[in-house]
Amino acid sequence: SLPVPSVQEIVRNDANNIPERYIKNPEDRPKGSDICLVSDDIPIINLYMLSKGDEDERRKLDIACQEWGFFQIINHGADGVLTKMKAAVEEFFDLPLSEKKKYGMAANDVQGYGQGYVVSEDQKLDWNDLLFLITLPANFRNIKYWPLTIPGFKETIEEYAKEIQRVADEIFANLSLLMGVESDFLKQMHGDAKQGIRMNYYPSCARPDLVLGVSPHSDSSSITLLVQDDEITALQIKHKGAWVPVKPIPNAIVVNIGDVMEAWSNGRYKSIEHRAVTNVEKPRISAAAFVIPGNEVELNPLKTMVDDDGRPRIFKNGVKYIDYLRYTLAKKMEGKL
Ligand code: SIN
Ligand code: FE2
Repeated sequence: SLPVPSVQEIVRNDANNIPERYIKNPEDRPKGSDICLVSDDIPIINLYMLSKGDEDERRKLDIACQEWGFFQIINHGADGVLTKMKAAVEEFFDLPLSEKKKYGMAANDVQGYGQGYVVSEDQKLDWNDLLFLITLPANFRNIKYWPLTIPGFKETIEEYAKEIQRVADEIFANLSLLMGVESDFLKQMHGDAKQGIRMNYYPSCARPDLVLGVSPHSDSSSITLLVQDDEITALQIKHKGAWVPVKPIPNAIVVNIGDVMEAWSNGRYKSIEHRAVTNVEKPRISAAAFVIPGNEVELNPLKTMVDDDGRPRIFKNGVKYIDYLRYTLAKKMEGKL
């Protein structure tokens, strides 16, 4: 990633300064008229019920993944560590810039403190700073990017990573059953799975109508589990042609289907385009945990999801995750592929 300034510092120096590189082209700006205000909220799934094998709840999950590609998880039993994690992320971004720079993302790396998806000098930038860490498995961590000077940071993120993986595994077990395979199938399908957490800091912005916190994209994960600010509505998802705001539910986990699951499910479950907007009043923090398969894992649809009459395969066979990833990263700024 190319070195670009910290947005947090830009705002700290002059809250009314919006450098040209952050001002989206008119057609890409968030417009009030794109927002869908009449639509239903995204579905809510009770994890405890899922873990008990409740079939109605599992059916709700099926519909959520087909019709929305997004849902919010409640009753997940991770409230305590979720609160601690948000505090740890806040503490990191509160550090002075000179301190944060010690964890600066190196060129050609994705881990560390910096900005995402910077691919060219003339690209429009998003209004956010981030810290991206590979969290699981432990031997994939690059500890030089972990702010070990913050007391308890490492322990908190480790505990959070484990808890969020437990939630992810419960979802995989239920999606496996819904796709007509054994409950451990999807977990196994990931091969050497990894988990990465992108911690986001979105400074307030004097002109939310000109910038985006995160440009429209779909995730290249199997699923993503997002924890966000309890009050500020900023995430928006594309639903039936309009942008639907995801209203925060305190302590809920927002889950979305990524491109990998869309491919594995042969398009039954949808990887939905989403974006984040900014606001004039307050900064916002979020943390997105991405579950990703091993590099060599292929994105072939499950056999149970293909039948040549009703459901022909919609994705090409034999594409390895790593090759797909190289392709999408190169095209990242163009929205969903
Ligand atoms: C993302 O999807 O990349 C971030 C979403 C958010 O911060 O709400
Ligand atoms: Fe995303």
